[in-house]
Amino acid sequence: MARILTGVQSTGTPHLGNILGAILPAIEMSNDDTNDAFLFIADLHSLTQIKDAQTLRKNNLSTAAAWLAFGLDTKKTVFYKQSDVPQATELAWYLSCFFPFSRLELAHSFKDKSSRLQDINGGLFSYPMLMAADILLYDANIVPVGKDQLQHLEMTRDVASRFHAKIGETFIIPEAKVQEQTKLIPGTDGQKMSKSKNNEIDIFLSDKDLRKQIMSIKTDSTPLDAPKDWKVCNCFAIYELLASQEAVEIMKENYEAGGYGYGDAKQDLFELICKKFSFERERYNHYLTNPDDIEKILMNGAKKAGAVANSVLTRVREKLGY
Ligand code: ADP
Ligand code: TRP
Repeated sequence: MARILTGVQSTGTPHLGNILGAILPAIEMSNDDTNDAFLFIADLHSLTQIKDAQTLRKNNLSTAAAWLAFGLDTKKTVFYKQSDVPQATELAWYLSCFFPFSRLELAHSFKDKSSRLQDINGGLFSYPMLMAADILLYDANIVPVGKDQLQHLEMTRDVASRFHAKIGETFIIPEAKVQEQTKLIPGTDGQKMSKSKNNEIDIFLSDKDLRKQIMSIKTDSTPLDAPKDWKVCNCFAIYELLASQEAVEIMKENYEAGGYGYGDAKQDLFELICKKFSFERERYNHYLTNPDDIEKILMNGAKKAGAVANSVLTRVREKLGY
């Protein structure tokens, strides 16, 4: 039995890119009976960017609601908030003392964030050590992540090996698992969909707001009557990821025939999203209107996670002489 573990930051409501790129593959993996799964909301990591209690709480709820709406089975998966198991912060400190400053300085993610964000805090810099602690604290074997997180996984393996070299075998060295088959989901501007790029499709919005977001997809100025090139169209690119093969072929023909405007394509995409995710959108709203249910589920998960965390941390403390 392999232990699968992954974390998601709660920096906003999960968008279509998060759902297709992270939520669905992780749920599928956690439903496999040969695995044991840990999934958490990385809300301590969120603090590197969010300094407002109300926003933090709201994001935690919407992130949890999204995972639950997409069918995360809390009987099979230990589902918790990082901040409810603060043992990770203690382990992060120990790990930091075994990791060279010069290696942390090489982190792409820090360089990327510090070039974009205004608040370049120390937490952003030491972020990979807390992430390593999140993983090593639970003896995880496999960590599903996006490509952007691979370097953090390398740092996790590296810090565990350095600790072993000085102190002796203590941790399970995890493997990263990148979902190769999920392409990067493009946003409304054709670039990678991302919370920080204002190009999201948030399927959990009301119909009216969701339609508005879809109508904002950037398209060129080919007139309605003219044939259009689906190969370079942002709306088609998103439709193709969600629709059946048959529906995709119909849309291609419509583009090539002309007389089918981008507004028509966007309306078709809107209707497809409403139909395809009607159950999940309803369940999401159910959870959001019952936040106590979410809290109960997360606290129950934190209890189970805490028991594993304590046993691993005891092992680490003893080795270090504490
Ligand atoms: P964001 O870029 O919106 O802040 P995160 O960095 O929090 O998203 O990503 C959370 C998870 O969702 C990661 O596993 C990441 O690889 C995945 N993900 C994010 N955006 C996309 C996308 N556009 N396409 C596919 N997967 C994505
Ligand atoms: N850094 C990850 C991200 O931004 C989130 C995360 C935090 C994580 N701790 C983790 C992912 C541990 C996997 C394992 O997506």
